Amino acid sequence: MGKSMKMPCVMDHYKVVILGAAVVGKSSLVMRFVKGKFHECQDTTIGAAFFTQTICIKDTVVKFEIWDTAGQERFHSLVSMYYRNAQAAVVVYDIQNQDSFQRAKTWLKELRKQAPPNIVIALAGNKADLSNIRVVKFDEAKQYAEENGLLFMETSAKTGLNVNDIFLAIAKKLPKNNNNQGSVNIKPNGNEPTQATKNCCK
Ligand code: GTP
Ligand code: MG
Repeated sequence: MGKSMKMPCVMDHYKVVILGAAVVGKSSLVMRFVKGKFHECQDTTIGAAFFTQTICIKDTVVKFEIWDTAGQERFHSLVSMYYRNAQAAVVVYDIQNQDSFQRAKTWLKELRKQAPPNIVIALAGNKADLSNIRVVKFDEAKQYAEENGLLFMETSAKTGLNVNDIFLAIAKKLPKNNNNQGSVNIKPNGNEPTQATKNCCK
């Protein structure tokens, strides 16, 4: 447990849901972002798991409340509970797996129909460390993202590539809530700070 620091900041809370086929690395991305760790044998998610992570952008503290959902089909009907009132979604596919890219497109269509209309959506092509055996082309996914108004990055939960950056890009695109103005206490939780975190609230 670290010490807490008192900082004069604006606090914004956002609910983010992580979606995608099984085994694409959703939980691994969340582990990397929240704990700065990667496990070769990450347990499959049952239902959903909840995490929080706080980053700072200039004088704003952004607290992400993250729902990491299960990719297995048997949990599909549950997942709508998690995106229904989300402000942001990260839809993940595996760059080595064409079916997972198709599944990501299906999730995106479902989000457009059923999620809040102003939801910020990022598409993450994960396992970018395995780029030499990719089947989903970078340009194909980028074009799809542009045509559909999505943020897009290839990520690697294993190396950390673009993991903080994709959440930072989401935070920058989200409208300001300003739902908690004044001093806030930030308890460092041992996470690897993002560049933005290091410059927090100066
Ligand atoms: P479900 O919970 O079943 O939906 O799967 P998930 O999408 O949460 O995948 P998970 O994070 O459990 O990762 C599945 C496997 O992929 C694990 O063996 C991870 O170690 C591996 N993995 C995840 N991300 C990466 C990555 O960026 N690169 C590599 N090489 N392996 C990864
Ligand atoms: Mg999982």
